[in-house]
Amino acid sequence: MKKMFGVIGDPIAHSMSPAMHNDLFALYDIDASYLPFRVLKDDLEDAVKGLKALGASGFNVTIPHKTKIMPLLDKIDPLAEAIGAVNTVKNENGLFTGYNTDGPGFVKGLEGHAADFKERSALIIGAGGAARAIYFSMAKAGVKRIDIFNRTLEKAEELVATCPYQVQSRILDRANAERLLGEYQLIIQTTSIGMVPEVDISPLSLGNLSSQALVSDIIYNPLKTKILKDAALNEAATQNGIDMFVYQGAIAFEKWTGIFPDTQRMKANVLRHLGGFSC
Ligand code: ATR
Repeated sequence: MKKMFGVIGDPIAHSMSPAMHNDLFALYDIDASYLPFRVLKDDLEDAVKGLKALGASGFNVTIPHKTKIMPLLDKIDPLAEAIGAVNTVKNENGLFTGYNTDGPGFVKGLEGHAADFKERSALIIGAGGAARAIYFSMAKAGVKRIDIFNRTLEKAEELVATCPYQVQSRILDRANAERLLGEYQLIIQTTSIGMVPEVDISPLSLGNLSSQALVSDIIYNPLKTKILKDAALNEAATQNGIDMFVYQGAIAFEKWTGIFPDTQRMKANVLRHLGGFSC
């Protein structure tokens, strides 16, 4: 029988996940279909019950449901539990298990741009849900220092205090982040600043950036945010958010099928959908 997968969220019409996963099912000759489901906040519990009753094999979860879905699942993976968000669900013998592949997806994408990332001093900009997934996953992977700059310092303090993995951290305000910027070989931008339509703003001035640094932005629309353009002017390496998106999908696909898919093909597919030609 054809297997059913999907993504639940609101809005969902522009999700690139259906095209990405359906292409992989065809590539690996798997009889399955991946559909987008618009699920309103108040309908989440009914939607999860419905997916279970229909025998869905797995699904992704996106805004606004990543946290609210947790008590509705049968089991939660420890990393997802610590992060406090689930973006991937797998049906295991009729039981729904929740995973977080956003943070591990970011880390996997990082390996391709900075193989020595565990030895690098990292600065994360932002302390929201995405920052939390990335910080916890990097700490779990063994990165020794991860500092945080966030507009609201209390949110950064809470993030650091709740991390179950061993890592050194300082919390910086904007002035200190800009002053100390040269100490970091890895800078990760996780806020929405620079996203379409407000493409001409950056959360941080890069005057003190080291040319040895990698600046990574989780935004992929536009492919080159203001902070990435500024980093390139300083001759630093850059990475956009395509990798995180592709690798979170690749890890989810592996959980569902046992196959780690062709990420180059996924990347080309996503770029085609974005109408972009380069990273
Ligand atoms: P996500 O799940 O995408 O990470 P979020 O949890 O709402 O979204 O977090 C948004 C992050 O972007 C936060 O770090 C937020 O800073 P605050 O904690 O101070 O709210 C940051 N952010 C969003 N808009 C911002 C802005 N205009 N200036 C500075 N920081 C901003």
